[in-house]
Amino acid sequence: MSSTPDTATVPTTPAAKPLAKNEGLKAASNFLRGNILRDLADQSTGGITDDTGQLTKFHGIYAQDDRDLRNQLRREGKEKAFSFMARIRVPGGVCTPAQWVTLDALADTHANGTLKLTTRQAFQFHGILKGNLWSAINAVNRALLDTLAACGDVNRNVMCNPNPEQSELHAETLRVTKAIADHLLPRTRAYHEIWVGGDTLVAGGEPESEPVYGETYLPRKFKIVVAVPPSNDVDIYAHDLGFIAIADASGKKLLGFNITVGGGLGMSHNQVETFPRIADVLGFCRVDQVVDVAEKILTTQRDFGDRTDRKHARLKYTIEDRGVVWFRAEVERRLGYQLGSPRPFAFTHMGDRYGWVDGENGTSHYTLFLMSGRIKDTAELKLKTALREIALAHKGDFRLTANQNLIIASVRPEERPVIDALLRKHKLDRANDASGLALNAMSCVALPTCGLALAESERYLPELVANLETEMEAAGLRHDEITLRITGCPNGCGRPYLAEIGFVGRAPGKYNVYLGAAFNGSRLNILYKASVVETDIVALLGPIIRRYALERTKGERFGDFVIRTGYVKATGTPADFHDKAEKPAPVAPV
Ligand code: HEM
Ligand code: SF4
Repeated sequence: MSSTPDTATVPTTPAAKPLAKNEGLKAASNFLRGNILRDLADQSTGGITDDTGQLTKFHGIYAQDDRDLRNQLRREGKEKAFSFMARIRVPGGVCTPAQWVTLDALADTHANGTLKLTTRQAFQFHGILKGNLWSAINAVNRALLDTLAACGDVNRNVMCNPNPEQSELHAETLRVTKAIADHLLPRTRAYHEIWVGGDTLVAGGEPESEPVYGETYLPRKFKIVVAVPPSNDVDIYAHDLGFIAIADASGKKLLGFNITVGGGLGMSHNQVETFPRIADVLGFCRVDQVVDVAEKILTTQRDFGDRTDRKHARLKYTIEDRGVVWFRAEVERRLGYQLGSPRPFAFTHMGDRYGWVDGENGTSHYTLFLMSGRIKDTAELKLKTALREIALAHKGDFRLTANQNLIIASVRPEERPVIDALLRKHKLDRANDASGLALNAMSCVALPTCGLALAESERYLPELVANLETEMEAAGLRHDEITLRITGCPNGCGRPYLAEIGFVGRAPGKYNVYLGAAFNGSRLNILYKASVVETDIVALLGPIIRRYALERTKGERFGDFVIRTGYVKATGTPADFHDKAEKPAPVAPV
């Protein structure tokens, strides 16, 4: 399948504004090489130049520094404590026990001793020092995984519902997921050249090209997910492009997919022209059309996305500005055929189904709750050690969920006692006894690694959940499921705008509190109160939780309740996500 080359190199920008700086960087990078090798070899600093940092993202690598140490080092006149985050692409979130064991070891030898399962079914290493970066990425590749296109202005990790209950359908959707991921992977040889070594020459000396992307890639990142109803665990409405599996009446045979476009969550405080957006349902396509449809949607965005302003460059703005009717017509023009009408579907939830679930083929699957997806050993819980022991014993596979949890999947009956014993030995059998709030909570990474964090997120989540759990328990709601998500800034990596209770970092110790999203992820929340100080959160939400316990109607979800009872209105305009700028305290006239 080939791309439409007619528009590959001449992106249309809406006005005569200058292109964003990154466009020049990409164009001059010689297909993402830039000065990466030079900067890696430079031993005078633990960091890399800003321009190189933009390019390493396409290789799945973020340049970071330890924000806990930043001020002290600045005072001492020393260089920042630079290190690198590497994101490992795992299409559909499926990896083998052998790969787990390799990553587990690399976390100790090359990173900060922890593994992070992300909200998009990928792994992250944090704290890789520059001197260890090449060998870390090289070792990841030797384990038959990679970090290519895990970040950057390209299609990122393609997610898929791990859906172990329906293995036949899942196997099919996973195949589709991998086909999309493979087709949209950048073709540059730079990645292999730099991190794997050697393959600078290609048979016949063919000139390098990017048939789908062109040499300036996309205006901004692009994210694709595949959902299998009734689970919306992948948060389909939050993504640029989504495919909703439609099965026949038996529920086992895949007929095709409804297509969703134009979802996205990132925004900036006080910039009303930036906002989260729920995806639109565009149409329906057959299984054999999916890869082509994905390509044509991606190339439409490649050619019409705004390359002048990175805060306005995602597909959600292209669709918001030009309309979904125009978008569908342009995609169909490129496809050369019309999309079908969307088929009926229904999502009931976003969360994972914890514990053992039997599959269709005699195997079973254990979903394990992991707070924030962080895998490390602590004095109380040797989680990393436990999962290593499980990986060494396990004969099936692992599946990373979109909610930062882990499925020990495809466990044969004779293997199950072994896994159960290991879960018991390490007290992991108790992990899933957490409250309904904890089991449906999620955070982004934020401090100390994320350069964009305005407030704590992952490190604060346990305390935040514990404080609100006390209120929930007092109201008799310990096992009630309410989605809670927190991020350290408005970029939305933990998808906070789709939580029934969302917290978005405003400043250290202060959060904007959002309420009213739908439990199944189909409606955004909106701002309830801005800049709430940590210590005021319980006083703010406790009364609402208690009232919910007393006044909810049968089966009413918290997100629906706060709308019905008038705490917030149902999702409104972009302005409803923003608060007023925090003004400095007035200065008394002299
Ligand atoms: C649009 C603005 C965004 C920017 C500039 C941004 C930037 C970043 C950065 C710098 C990190 C690294 C943090 C660390 O690991 O130390 C990160 C992590 C991550 N981001 Fe984003 N992000 C954005 C939006 C999003 C959205 C909307 C999603 C999901 C729909 C997302 C998904 C992720 C995931 C899965 C991680 C990995 C860590 C985690 O699970 O929290 N990002 N992002
Ligand atoms: S939401 Fe903000 S603070 Fe959290 S990881 Fe993303 S960019 Fe960093």
